[in-house]
Amino acid sequence: FGDPVLRGKNIVVSAGPTYEDIDPVRFIGNRSSGRMGFAVAEAAAQAGAHVTLVAGPVSLPTPAGIVRRIDVRSAAQMHAAVTEAAGGADIYIGSAAVGDYRPNSVAAHKLKKHDGADLTLQLAENPDILASLSAQKAHPFLVGFAAETQNVEIYARDKLQRKGLDMIAANQVGEGLGFETADNAITLYWADGSLALPRTDKAALARQLIECIASRYKAVRG
Ligand code: C5P
Repeated sequence: FGDPVLRGKNIVVSAGPTYEDIDPVRFIGNRSSGRMGFAVAEAAAQAGAHVTLVAGPVSLPTPAGIVRRIDVRSAAQMHAAVTEAAGGADIYIGSAAVGDYRPNSVAAHKLKKHDGADLTLQLAENPDILASLSAQKAHPFLVGFAAETQNVEIYARDKLQRKGLDMIAANQVGEGLGFETADNAITLYWADGSLALPRTDKAALARQLIECIASRYKAVRG
């Protein structure tokens, strides 16, 4: 469907949460279902692109038309997989909810309780995948996501600039939208414009997002 500019283009999509292991049975994760990212990957394939899907730990079937799926667990693994797959790609769409922090070290054995004493976990910051891509000289057209609970436009535009993105898709989480839901509503921002995509199911929304990416890609790279 849609603009022929995406036919044959290499598009990498990341989706889902990351899990940061604490010990062999525990981890730090988040509530991303991966459904928005999987819908975006499917829509990109329907637009004729060669799509690589880098998926965090989700139990979703691979959408039709996906050329390659790489399953990862942690932010570090996602960073490595995306860096490898996005080298030479035309567009990277970072819809994964990448964990910001990971435990400093992963315990080899299950942590034990200690008579009511507090337990402190030391966390180290994960590298920002989008920011590290945009720091490279030749990099794909970069699309990020911003899930916010307040001040959506201010935070989204700040991320657009700070991470050096071409476009950001922002949504307010909560009120039955966003994580773990069938519907979503997003507003797309780029340097000198924006487009509001009102509430609909994630498949329809993904197609509208891909249409807008095609038109912006054409404007700046075409
Ligand atoms: O800063 P925040 O995590 O809200 O930004 C969200 C966007 O940044 C998403 O597109 C996400 O995939 C990306 N991100 C990333 N690497 C991280 C954290 C977030 O690429 N370590």
